[in-house]
Amino acid sequence: MSTRSFVALAACAILQAQTKYGVGRPPSEAEIRALGATVAPSGAGLPEGSGTAAAGRELFARKCARCHGEKAGGDIGPALVGGQGTLATAKPIRTVGSFWPHATSVWNYVNRAMPFDKPGSLTHAEVYAAVALILHWNGIVSENQVLDAKTLPAVRMPNRDGFIPDPRPDVKRPGAPGK
Ligand code: HEC
Repeated sequence: MSTRSFVALAACAILQAQTKYGVGRPPSEAEIRALGATVAPSGAGLPEGSGTAAAGRELFARKCARCHGEKAGGDIGPALVGGQGTLATAKPIRTVGSFWPHATSVWNYVNRAMPFDKPGSLTHAEVYAAVALILHWNGIVSENQVLDAKTLPAVRMPNRDGFIPDPRPDVKRPGAPGK
């Protein structure tokens, strides 16, 4: 789905809630723009810029390590590395490396939400570099692999096929097609 149709769809869902419950108002184009890049799992919406794990080291030490640990093994923030192969065990460890199915979603999340106490403060290049480093520490990309709008969607995450569609045909979702 293109970013634009994704945003349009989201706006449509909001509009439905507004009509139904009489709350809120549709966001303006400017407000949607101000929220920044919306990146779909396919990578649609990824902005220009690029980064490598090597370029991310200094940034991570400065802006991420105090919460996630020096090598992202976890501290007051969750671990971002490790856990591969544990999901089906009695003690699953969910990290970016073991759990997240799309590298593009990691970009979207870091861009919007991190650092936790200063979200939205990273440049696009810094987000690419931080994501590259996290992926590198998880053994997914090499230290000097350049990640950008073209290469990031091509990164295959270890748990890409670990999600099972579960549409629950017995449960009628309001608003679902044909219901
Ligand atoms: C002030 C503490 C803090 C700082 C600084 C910080 N984080 Fe986080 N981070 C968190 C917390 C807390 C969470 C969990 C948030 C939640 O689950 O709602 C998190 C979650 C994450 C996640 C998702 C983990 C998962 O598997 O759900 C990623 C990726 C991440 N941070 C990357 C970064 C990067 C990259 C930086 C530096 C640019 C950074 N964080 C800086 C506290 C921090």
